[in-house]
Amino acid sequence: MNEKREAPIGVFDSGVGGLTVAREIMRNLPTERIVYFGDTARVPYGNKSRESVLRFSRQIVRFLQTEQVKAIVVACNTASAYALDTIQQELTIPIIGVVKPGARVAAEATRNKRIGVIGTAGTIGTNIYTDYIKKINPEITVLGKACPLFVPLVEEGWLKDPVTVEVASRYLKDLQDQEIDTLVLGCTHYPLLRSMIGEIMGESVTLVNPAYETALSLKRLLEERELNRPKPKEEEEFPYRFYVSDLAEKFTEFANFILPYDVSMTQKIDIEKY
Ligand code: DGL
Repeated sequence: MNEKREAPIGVFDSGVGGLTVAREIMRNLPTERIVYFGDTARVPYGNKSRESVLRFSRQIVRFLQTEQVKAIVVACNTASAYALDTIQQELTIPIIGVVKPGARVAAEATRNKRIGVIGTAGTIGTNIYTDYIKKINPEITVLGKACPLFVPLVEEGWLKDPVTVEVASRYLKDLQDQEIDTLVLGCTHYPLLRSMIGEIMGESVTLVNPAYETALSLKRLLEERELNRPKPKEEEEFPYRFYVSDLAEKFTEFANFILPYDVSMTQKIDIEKY
């Protein structure tokens, strides 16, 4: 029996947004253990430099390795865009991000070859979705739009508020005019605005949630490497552990709002030590 199969999966994000990815992993890989880290002291990553996001990501990866994780999911589009390629070369365990799975599904979904991508200023500025999508099919036109106000609105819990509808309508207007038929929710917070974005864009636009696709990619990867965890004989009491760099209680509250799991405790750690 491969003992590594029993080890947890490390999942990290700049804060709470990556919980939408953790949620898909819980739903689609129910036997796996998870160690989640949210960098709540240094969120948002979306308006920080590549150097900072890379430094933060390296520290988090070092922390997750002390938890003996068998694989890591970068559950943050901005960190996936800025840091994944570099960290991949520095690690011996598998690490995946959210961008590639999202790009692949969007390229498969579009019929008129016009895809919109919304994300943080950092993610959109790197053009990473455009690059991946065009590698799959150079004929596809990709239109990016940074939506920096979405993250604070989601964190405020204003998911259906008229203010958020107004902001979303303004951000999405350009993409509507460009006649896209597929829209990538290229930021971990945006799946929480999915129904509103869907209403604004209309039924003819397919929304792609990279979180779901990332969970499926992780499943394939673990199976290929024989790292997937078999069903435990007895149900475990605490299969998921949560760590943050600040405001543990606030995180616990948000996590209980998002996850299909009762989070009883989040531990605060000093990430600068790693
Ligand atoms: N998690 C980030 C992302 O997916 C959004 C929040 C932030 O800016 O840190 O890009």
